[in-house]
Amino acid sequence: MENLAQYADWAYLIGAILFVLALRGLSSPASAIMGNRYGMIGMALAVAATFVVVGSLNGGAIVLKPAYVLILGAMVLGAGLGIYRARTVPMTQMPETVAMMHSLVGLSAVLIAVAAVLNTSSHHDAVHRFELFVGCFVGAITFTASVFAYGKLAAKKWAKSMKGGWIKPVQVVLALGMLGFGAGYFFTEGMNYFYAMTACALVLGYFWIGPIGGGDMPVVVSLLNSFSGWAAAGIGFTLNNSMLIIAGSLVGSSGAILSYVMCRAMNRSLFNVLFGSFGAAAAGPAAGDGKEKNYKTGSADDAAFMMGNADSVVIVPGYGMAQARAQNAVKELGDLLKEKGVKVSYAIHPVAGRMPGHMNVLLAEADVAYDDVKEMDEINSDFASTDVVLIIGANDVVNPAAKNDPSSPIYGMPILEAQRARSIMVIKRSMSTGYAGLDNDIFYMDKTMMIFGDAKKVAEDILKSLSGSGH
Ligand code: TAP
Repeated sequence: MENLAQYADWAYLIGAILFVLALRGLSSPASAIMGNRYGMIGMALAVAATFVVVGSLNGGAIVLKPAYVLILGAMVLGAGLGIYRARTVPMTQMPETVAMMHSLVGLSAVLIAVAAVLNTSSHHDAVHRFELFVGCFVGAITFTASVFAYGKLAAKKWAKSMKGGWIKPVQVVLALGMLGFGAGYFFTEGMNYFYAMTACALVLGYFWIGPIGGGDMPVVVSLLNSFSGWAAAGIGFTLNNSMLIIAGSLVGSSGAILSYVMCRAMNRSLFNVLFGSFGAAAAGPAAGDGKEKNYKTGSADDAAFMMGNADSVVIVPGYGMAQARAQNAVKELGDLLKEKGVKVSYAIHPVAGRMPGHMNVLLAEADVAYDDVKEMDEINSDFASTDVVLIIGANDVVNPAAKNDPSSPIYGMPILEAQRARSIMVIKRSMSTGYAGLDNDIFYMDKTMMIFGDAKKVAEDILKSLSGSGH
């Protein structure tokens, strides 16, 4: 048994390779399931190897320690809660669930750092003290910021956006306090400095997320994902565990890359997202000019007629499709149109819905062919030659103000250019705004027809009409 411990590093190496393969697999919907499997095997290997390492810490022989009971108990409890949550969470609540999970990684980083600092049996040299200090404050900021992000995404009363000129000075004071107390701990090893630094970081996380507006939350959640990875890597240094350092760094860097990609999709700099207040200003009531505007309405039969007679149809799904769980009806509609000789594609905006890849996941769940699903850059040049665009529960991601109106809070954000199609049909329940709280000129264009109703019901009605009509 004792020889097993020597192989732990090999197990960690294989685990790390499997994690890299998992990330590679997750980069395409076609290979995502395999990617997930690689990740699960890598994680199982890492956990098993860690048990062996922990068991052999006291000089070679593997002994069953009482700590195992605690670890196993915590694992069973955590796995039970995780399985329950994974089985019951609706897809629309995934963003807040992800934020909640990040908060737990942050909290564990703080607790492990505190435990390591309190462990008087080991001497902390300067490098170690630096790791503890940085790992702890990154974890503390991740913890409170993620809890607040969870509250905001779940629309909890206690997580209202903060506004006012006083916030920035408070942030600066907290950041300086955190670094100052951290330096105090670094030079004197005084525990009180460490606790004061942790308290400042916890409060800073809260005040950092507070003023960031709704429109920017996707970027913030992916940035917190990155932070939780770096916090885990910090724990890896504290525990001298190479697997945690590698896995944490992979999560940290992939989260940072995702944040960068999302910032590019919104035409914003990361600095502007984190320290500006674009989203806060945008998330208000409809910013109209007060004048009555006219729009045309139509029925499911009208939509069936127009699409059945088109050569090409592009379907633009958004948050409303997810909300109505209309993806299966949308897929059937696309298939029927294809049977009738219509060219059908699905256009995906990088921040459509409420989480990265939201629309891709739903369309994959409904078995839409990957080749029919087009990313924004790929499809934007096709809209001008498209007969019908069917916008189903999308709003902000097709708002032309982002292109045409320099005074709009979303000006500069790339959009799906659905307004260039020959005719436009929009399925939604009312003239209400989307996530950013902005009116949308595409609804009032001469070539646009609004079809009011729940996305699933309307898609099913169009399907019925189309299959009965023999267009
Ligand atoms: P939104 O702009 O939020 O618009 C969704 C539209 O769907 C609403 O106008 C709503 O209008 C309609 N809708 C809601 N429930 C419906 C139902 N059951 N049936 C039919 N229609 C329904 O969605 P989008 O275009 O997908 O844009 C996403 C927005 O969310 C962006 O502003 C983005 O920045 C933000 N956001 C994105 C993410 C990520 S990572 N994807 C995360 C957080 C926030 P009615 O009420 O009139 O039906």
